[in-house]
Amino acid sequence: MQQYRMALVTGATSGIGAAFAEALPRETGLLLTGRDRAALDALAMKLTGEGRTVETHAADLAVEADRVELIGRAEALGVDLLINNAGLGVFGPVARNALDREMEMVAVNVTAVVHLTRALLPGMAARTQSEGGRAGLIIVSSVAAFTPVPLLATYAATKTFELSFGEALADEMKDTSVDVLVLCPGATRTKFFDRAGMAEMPGRAELPGPVARKALRALGRERVLVSQPPARAALLLATARRRLMVAGAGRVMRRIARREGG
Ligand SMILES: NC(=O)c1ccc[n+]([C@@H]2O[C@H](COP(=O)([O-])OP(=O)(O)OC[C@H]3O[C@@H](n4cnc5c(N)ncnc54)[C@H](OP(=O)(O)O)[C@@H]3O)[C@@H](O)[C@H]2O)c1
Repeated sequence: MQQYRMALVTGATSGIGAAFAEALPRETGLLLTGRDRAALDALAMKLTGEGRTVETHAADLAVEADRVELIGRAEALGVDLLINNAGLGVFGPVARNALDREMEMVAVNVTAVVHLTRALLPGMAARTQSEGGRAGLIIVSSVAAFTPVPLLATYAATKTFELSFGEALADEMKDTSVDVLVLCPGATRTKFFDRAGMAEMPGRAELPGPVARKALRALGRERVLVSQPPARAALLLATARRRLMVAGAGRVMRRIARREGG
């Protein structure tokens, strides 16, 4: 696994985000964010030690001003690993789900991912390029990205956005010092389902620790990681086909950009 100097982990207060924070080696400083200050402080306390920088920054990623502040903090700390993990789901038919929850889901799962990525990527690339190192970007999507999911319609669509955005970004950044990975977990034992209003998990669940560790190992080696072995096998053809299509679309778009002098 590549060594990073400073990682920003969103959604670090529980589940897969907390597992990422715990899985990163102590040589990597941490900027942990989420809304739950007590959970952030508890995790920071647990992970601080031996000269390691562990900073916390409470932020609601659905709020633009909070995102701007967080980005400023991340830039000041020279983040070279961005883990866009925070996310939420809302279970039920769109026509009945609370409108504010649907909008919050789009803000956190889509808007915040684009905002943080676009704002931090140039600095991450420039710093690592000049120092001869590598930067990393992980976007936590889902196996739900591969199909529309009734009763999780908006959620699955946000995850499809993240997958598509991350795959295209990985192609755009392929000749730079930034590695991009889209992580697609299957059911994982976290607070996610409870919070989404689902009484049970669909299928057998993985633990968040192994999911985070697999993703960190895959960063720089793969572009899309379906973490659960049965889902990985079932989606192997789909992911390979998508990679070919992304490469083809990239070639067409670059030709157009060259013609336009871009
Ligand atoms: N669990 C699964 O089965 C599963 C499967 C596939 C993909 N995923 C994806 O994995 C990611 C992590 O989810 P999880 O399973 O670990 O669920 P989780 O335990 O509920 O964690 C979600 C994290 O997102 C943060 N978050 C939610 N809304 C936020 C907001 N408005 N502002 C800032 N942070 C916010 C939460 O922090 P605060 O509450 O402190 O703000 C929390 O740390 C999500 O993107 C989810 O879509 C999960």
